[in-house]
Amino acid sequence: MRAREAAARRFTAPADTTTAVPDTTVGGHPAEADPPRRLHRLEPAELLYGRLLASAAAGGEPVAARFRIADGRSQKLPLGKWLAPVDAVDRAVLAHAAPPVLDIGCGPGRHLAALAVAGQQGLGLDLSPVAVRLARARGAEAILRSVFADVPRAGTWRSALLLDGNIGIGGAPEALLARACALIAPGGAVLVETGPPEAPTRRLRVRLETRSAISPWFGWATVGADGIAGLARAAGLEPCATFEARGRWFARLERAR
Ligand SMILES: C[S@@+](CC[C@H](N)C(=O)[O-])C[C@H]1O[C@@H](n2cnc3c(N)ncnc32)[C@H](O)[C@@H]1O
Repeated sequence: MRAREAAARRFTAPADTTTAVPDTTVGGHPAEADPPRRLHRLEPAELLYGRLLASAAAGGEPVAARFRIADGRSQKLPLGKWLAPVDAVDRAVLAHAAPPVLDIGCGPGRHLAALAVAGQQGLGLDLSPVAVRLARARGAEAILRSVFADVPRAGTWRSALLLDGNIGIGGAPEALLARACALIAPGGAVLVETGPPEAPTRRLRVRLETRSAISPWFGWATVGADGIAGLARAAGLEPCATFEARGRWFARLERAR
């Protein structure tokens, strides 16, 4: 508790973070409405993300939370989407996932919940205790675990999911794909959501932001549909298919038998 309070203590955002990263959109308020040196609470990403998820799940006041890239661009954190049931595109992708399925970065478990409804066995991994709790409340099996730590039944999963931007986990997609390759069984597949074909591979520094709190910067990445094949081969996976559904792109990467 004391450590958490210490992590959450108030501090004045240092000049380099407030000037190098223009706060033009956080909370939907223009930067000129902000005091020149606003107080932000620095909060570990897992805790801030968990607090936001818990608040959104409780149906509280919507929190304007953003995913900020170090170049200044930002996008709204789609908490509502993560808490809602999967859509038709996700269901179609899940139909290609042979069980048992390992959902890497499962969040509040919408993909696992859909798999459970279809009678498919799955396990979710996530760094956020709140996400794991919410996933379990949806009937999913999920554990608090980094994908890079000791994962149960490593090397036996028939499918691994990296959906909804999760190819960004860790900020080094080749290392993440190599890890996913080691977790699936020979002949198994990794289903990855990518950007569109022309989107470049980018290794990024990002953070979470609300009007009152920010997380430290952490590594993230984005990969386009054209870039995934080379990264997959370098990781020991064979790119077998790329498909598009309603503007979203996916790749199926297989581990040799
Ligand atoms: C973009 S969210 C996606 C949530 C979920 N897959 C969905 O689509 O609803 C990314 C998730 O990855 C988790 N995550 C980040 N780094 C991770 C790691 N090293 N191991 C496991 N999960 C991680 C985060 O806590 C977060 O829940």
